Amino acid sequence: MNNRQVIVITSGKGGVGKTTITANLGAAFANLGKKVCLIDGDLGLKNLDVVLGLENRILYTIMDVVSGRVGASEALVRHKTNRNLYLLPASQIATKEMMTVEDMTKVVTRIKPDFDYIIIDSPAGIESGFRNAVAAADTAVLVTNPEFTAVSDADRVLGLLENTHLGLDNVFFILNKVKESMNEKRGMMKTEEVMKTLSIPMIGMVPDSDEVFIGSNRGVPIAFEPSHDMNKIFTNITRRIMGHNIPVEEDFKLARTTVWKLFLKLFRS
Ligand SMILES: Nc1ncnc2c1ncn2[C@@H]1O[C@H](COP(=O)(O)OP(=O)(O)OP(=O)(O)O)[C@@H](O)[C@H]1O
Ligand SMILES: [Mg+2]
Repeated sequence: MNNRQVIVITSGKGGVGKTTITANLGAAFANLGKKVCLIDGDLGLKNLDVVLGLENRILYTIMDVVSGRVGASEALVRHKTNRNLYLLPASQIATKEMMTVEDMTKVVTRIKPDFDYIIIDSPAGIESGFRNAVAAADTAVLVTNPEFTAVSDADRVLGLLENTHLGLDNVFFILNKVKESMNEKRGMMKTEEVMKTLSIPMIGMVPDSDEVFIGSNRGVPIAFEPSHDMNKIFTNITRRIMGHNIPVEEDFKLARTTVWKLFLKLFRS
């Protein structure tokens, strides 16, 4: 995976963890010394600012940049403690239709030289917000949960991504909210089934964890805490995006779940 600088985080179904993953990957890249900009592409329903604990620091939004009212550098919010991390916030009063593919591409092109990585958090679904976010990206990370409905919606998005400039070679997936016991009766798919259905590389597996949930709700994503095991999972994902060959089993070891055992079995067979 080379030259993957602008990454869109997307999904079919809502609530699978796009914003959470965006914030934590941003923190993990920043911890590695990379200068990162997170763009909240979820106009109208924005919450990346809250997850990062930056909601009180917003002066301007991406809409002000698009309209030419301010330059991008004036709208960027630098994180309070993680100084490599910046947010380009969305506006709550704007609607997704107020922005075009050209607008998003222009903003991203403008800030690209100033950052090592740009991560765009997109809204759920396949409407204009999705199209805008994807148009500006060179890599897509599809987030899904191990539920039949989420995987089925992810598969539909994959079909759409295949017909964009990204193709399938530039799309990866993260399995989020993985539980210790996943079984069909509870509407859950096994990891290997998800891999088979989506047939694109999995670049990470994130357990369903109270600490991830609490971190996001406190405005301090878990990946801000360097010593935490969950931090290592997000760091592994960022390293894979950077082109390092780190087996996904590493994440399972860290998660120490039953799923880990299942997956090891799969990789050994
Ligand atoms: N790995 C995880 N473990 C526990 N809770 C999680 C995990 N990932 C996300 N969550 C929680 O799930 C909820 C939805 O997450 P999030 O807002 O990131 O999803 P989303 O895909 O961005 O949603 P939307 O489609 O509405 O934008 C949040 O309460 C979040 O804290
Ligand atoms: Mg979101």
